[in-house]
Amino acid sequence: MRQTLVDISNLHKAYSAPHENSALWFRQQRSHINAIDGLDLAIYKGETLCVVGESGCGKSTLARLVMGIEQPDAGSIGYEGRAISHLSSKARQAYRQRMQIVFQDPYTALNPRLTVMHVLVEPVMYHHPQLDRSIAIEQALAQLAAVGIDPSLAQRFPHQLSGGQRQRVNIARALMVQPEFVVADEPLSALDVSIQAQILNLLAQLQQQKQLTYLIFSHNLAAVEHMADRVAVMYEGKICEIASREQIFNDPQHPYTQALMAASPQIHTPPNNNHKLVGDVPNRIPSRLGCSLQDRCPRAFEACRHQSPQLQEVVADHQVACHEINQGWR
Ligand SMILES: Nc1ncnc2c1ncn2[C@@H]1O[C@H](COP(=O)(O)OP(=O)(O)O)[C@@H](O)[C@H]1O
Ligand SMILES: [Mg+2]
Repeated sequence: MRQTLVDISNLHKAYSAPHENSALWFRQQRSHINAIDGLDLAIYKGETLCVVGESGCGKSTLARLVMGIEQPDAGSIGYEGRAISHLSSKARQAYRQRMQIVFQDPYTALNPRLTVMHVLVEPVMYHHPQLDRSIAIEQALAQLAAVGIDPSLAQRFPHQLSGGQRQRVNIARALMVQPEFVVADEPLSALDVSIQAQILNLLAQLQQQKQLTYLIFSHNLAAVEHMADRVAVMYEGKICEIASREQIFNDPQHPYTQALMAASPQIHTPPNNNHKLVGDVPNRIPSRLGCSLQDRCPRAFEACRHQSPQLQEVVADHQVACHEINQGWR
């Protein structure tokens, strides 16, 4: 029986930004961007859920909301059944150790003035101030070995490491406090292709050893193909399709998922995949009626202009938000 670890419901987060038009009058009129726009998502214990979508679709915003770095405007995030999205900083403290994040750029995520050892020991001492520092140092050496870093590098500074080594240190740091849930925001995209596979393998191996739950964000469908248990496809702040990895890659249903696959040469595209989107990724605009893909979807029809499609199950554990599919027209 699958257990839900994190349950996100109808989540909203808007930012206000200067108007894109450079005229002063326009810039004073700030526009609102719905970075997260009514998003629903459940994450099961022990799974790797990969969220895939183009740059600007709201991945990093969702990562920050889940981690409690920012608060949503509306909606809720539950952790083991308890709403955590609006907890006070003190009440949140109990969850800080249980969930950790690995950021995209392994260099800027590390303080350049701290040695590797310092970076690893610091979070342990923060969560366990009474602990003998020598025990934390021993734990750090063991953790370095676990992520494939020679302990002799412990006294180095971040700039003295390669990109792959830095990302290993970031992963080690996240794991120092024994979390059960790890969020990774584009953990591979700053790395060379040859290093990406090594980091993917490391993440998979650590998950097995420590029974971790992963929420991994990526703009690259091909990168998650070998890693995900389930894949959620995100477009303009919402999930438009979610299913097991096999279902998503063998039978993508949403026009946007199909277009993402057609645009990834590494992915073998199913033969029924005849969708191409028109136009470019739009500038994010304030809320409007209808499906957010309506201007780019060649098959959009009347309902798509008026009503936002909701996620509906098409077969067991495969949900799609598309009027055409949900009305059984395809
Ligand atoms: N702090 C912020 N202030 C204003 N706009 C923001 C902020 N963070 C994100 N955005 C906007 O929200 C949208 C989603 O951004 P983001 O979550 O970074 O997407 P992704 O990680 O998928 O590239 C973008 O249009 C971005 O410009
Ligand atoms: Mg991002």
